[in-house]
Amino acid sequence: MTPVPPDPHPSGAQPPQIPSQFIPRHVAVVMDGNGRWANERGLPRNEGHKAGEKSLVDVVAGAIEMGIPYVSAYAFSTENWKRSFDEVSFLMRFTTEVLTRQLETLQAWGVRVLWAGRKPKLWKSVIRQLEYCEEQTKNNTVCTLVMCVNYGGRAEIADATARIAEDVAAGKIKPSSVSEKTVAKYLYKPEVPDVDLFLRSSGELRTSNFLLWQSAYAELVFLDVLWPDVDRRTLWHAVLEYAQRDRRYGGAIDKVTS
Ligand code: IPE
Ligand code: IPE
Ligand code: MG
Repeated sequence: MTPVPPDPHPSGAQPPQIPSQFIPRHVAVVMDGNGRWANERGLPRNEGHKAGEKSLVDVVAGAIEMGIPYVSAYAFSTENWKRSFDEVSFLMRFTTEVLTRQLETLQAWGVRVLWAGRKPKLWKSVIRQLEYCEEQTKNNTVCTLVMCVNYGGRAEIADATARIAEDVAAGKIKPSSVSEKTVAKYLYKPEVPDVDLFLRSSGELRTSNFLLWQSAYAELVFLDVLWPDVDRRTLWHAVLEYAQRDRRYGGAIDKVTS
């Protein structure tokens, strides 16, 4: 099936023209601020989650328009089980519903969906739908959307460590040969590259355990907008900021001024 490009944003806004070396390969998005958005309007928190669905779809549209190949979306963290039963069960049902509702659109756009996260505790219905989306979209090549559901950066590193230990015990790898490359290979989705741009909405200045390993050298952009008010223009704005950054990776160049 030939992919169909997303419709332009209703405002008519077009992605900024940026040289391709300044386009991030992988954007990680912490979709934060739904509860505050709802409460500010006198609504219960779950209404904020509902209002955030269109933001995610629009950000994916904006990533496609800009030629960003990987987007990771933080949808439910390993810490979010601390919330009320009402909110947790809403989020479980809602995640399945969003994936069901949006699959056709994502498919038409040529988006490959992947799931990163832990199985234990996650509702079976959610796992089934995530795996179904992975299967249905596995041949798509326009953009990869990694849905991070029951995801935690520390959990991911701990799970990788346990699997490395198993393979060491089975004699498949030598302890002395375990390197950063080895660890990277045991992460949930080893084919997904490191994060270039780490974007968080809602004004909170923290990573909240998202993609810890992969974001070691990511550029962090925190925006003062609540997730339901985010659209593709927010992503483009963050990419423009990213494009201004001087990524040194620990290196240095002598540039004496005056
Ligand atoms: C992010 O919005 C969505 C999830 C964590 C599932 P929040 O629900 O954290 O909203 P705030 O941060 O409380 O406003
Ligand atoms: C991070 O947001 C998790 C998701 C967006 C899914 P939280 O709202 O859970 O993070 P904290 O509590 O502000 O650190
Ligand atoms: Mg939050």
